[in-house]
Amino acid sequence: MVACALTKAREFGYDTVACASTGNLANSVAAHSAEGGFRAYIFIPHDLEQGKVLGTLLYGANVLSVNGNYDEVNRLCAEAGDKYGWAFVNINLRPFYGDGSKSFGYEIAEQLGWKAPDHVIVPCAGGSLISKIYKGLNEFDRLGLIDGGVSTKMYAAQAKGCSPITTAIKTNAEVFRPQKPNTIAKSIAIGNPADGYMAMDTVRKSGGWADDVTEEEIIDGIRLLGRTEGIFTETAGGVTVSVAKKLAAQGRFKPDEIVVIAITGNGLKTQEAVVGKLGETFGIQPNLASLEAALNTEKLLAGVGV
Ligand SMILES: Cc1ncc(COP(=O)(O)O)c(C=O)c1O
Repeated sequence: MVACALTKAREFGYDTVACASTGNLANSVAAHSAEGGFRAYIFIPHDLEQGKVLGTLLYGANVLSVNGNYDEVNRLCAEAGDKYGWAFVNINLRPFYGDGSKSFGYEIAEQLGWKAPDHVIVPCAGGSLISKIYKGLNEFDRLGLIDGGVSTKMYAAQAKGCSPITTAIKTNAEVFRPQKPNTIAKSIAIGNPADGYMAMDTVRKSGGWADDVTEEEIIDGIRLLGRTEGIFTETAGGVTVSVAKKLAAQGRFKPDEIVVIAITGNGLKTQEAVVGKLGETFGIQPNLASLEAALNTEKLLAGVGV
């Protein structure tokens, strides 16, 4: 998505790009700017995880840590875009950044052998990605690339601590109420989502649904995905896995249906969320006797992670 946006920035003649971000867009804009030779100004809320901040500074971007939440950062950026004439990826370049994420939908169809899944569950922040995955699938269908058409149901996933989109869907509301985010799922902590209406519309017209999960369930979701699939996801992925579990318990998926769970971020970026919650390492001496003694303890005899 950022590759699309910066290609357009170059075409429009910008030499400076910028974005407001909960951390992942920050990493990507910084990296693509380094490669493309743009000056970059990245605006983030002050309380983001270290991994995301380091992963942005590394590429030589100017990082502005704003003393406020994402929605305040974004409002500042809208004003700055007007004043300085920079290319803000998520503001004045938003249509290109948004449409870039259709590639997520293209890749789902391709990796399923040119089929559309029955259900897709997507973590929502500003609400763009969910509608673009749906758009991508439908574009491929119009091109005749999808066997059996698209009857995919789309599901929005959020944390209870920031759930303007899922709350509106679950209460059948026409308008969503902005919230003040309070969750460890910082990547998707947007209280006033720019594309919230588009996300609601996508869920409704596809026949999907929405749900949200507690902080504890987010950690459980991260652990479940690690234990069962060998994938370490960040907190947004924990939200999506646990929402998928809730939707399954509500009987929304048949056993033979294809369900795609969008895991959108790497767990190394949000290590703070799981520190102290994953059990402990088992210390031994570098000799077989010590190993033998350890293997005979109750914890290691069970044969599953301690
Ligand atoms: C890890 C992760 N997943 C999903 C999203 C959702 O994106 P959108 O703003 O398009 O709803 C974001 C957005 O920042 C994100 O960082």
